Amino acid sequence: MKPKLVVGNWKMNKSFDDAQDLILAIQESLKDMKLQTEVVLCPPFVYAELITDIAEEEDSQFYAGAQNCSEHASGAYTGEISAEMLASMGIEFCIVGHSERRKYFGETNAIIAQKIKLLLENDIVPIVCCGELLEERKAGKHTQVVQQQIEEALFGLEPKEFERIIIAYEPVWAIGTGETATPAQAQEMHAFIRSLVEQKYGTEMAYNTYILYGGSCNAKNAADLFMQEDVDGGLIGGASLKADDFVAIIQAGENVLKDN
Ligand code: PGA
Repeated sequence: MKPKLVVGNWKMNKSFDDAQDLILAIQESLKDMKLQTEVVLCPPFVYAELITDIAEEEDSQFYAGAQNCSEHASGAYTGEISAEMLASMGIEFCIVGHSERRKYFGETNAIIAQKIKLLLENDIVPIVCCGELLEERKAGKHTQVVQQQIEEALFGLEPKEFERIIIAYEPVWAIGTGETATPAQAQEMHAFIRSLVEQKYGTEMAYNTYILYGGSCNAKNAADLFMQEDVDGGLIGGASLKADDFVAIIQAGENVLKDN
């Protein structure tokens, strides 16, 4: 089993002081853990300098991430933040194509593909989200929907580019609802996604690609999810806002790795 990757997606939460307290509390808890699990924190843009400064300290065991970037490289796009700007701040990872961006900001697979290209050009690792709506799962279309998202957003990439991609499977019905996919549902979709990657880019790429689960993953259910063969970690929303909960999820990743 590969070491896990745990990513915290803070969404639009926390004041500056609360953000600083949370980052420092996580830094303190992880300091002595000798982690194999990789950790990324994605606070809102305005805390980019805060997170990169602390992430760069010697005893920090996490990377600095962002939650989004513009699909444009630069120019007259008031209010937007470019991939180049993020890179210039020291941001190393960026979530892209989250279902909330698809739903509230009209992001399509084509826009997401454009963002991924800009992130890669700026040496930022894209964490690319996919996942079906409840109606789509009920209609038995979940694999079809996810396949289309993955193909349209990612399969235009050259192997050299694709090898830097992280995928996050987040069933939309599980995000922020308290209703988690069962470990079996997660495993089934993750294995399916891996098979798509295998068909397109080969077995080695499929094995190496990190596929995270997101959607009401918390300190209680993380171990069961992380135990699944094709679940390489988690993209954590609500439970990443409290240091103890988030660190417990990271600890679950460590324990699963030790036991397997
Ligand atoms: P949640 O969010 O953990 O609060 O369900 C996950 C996400 O949206 O990334």
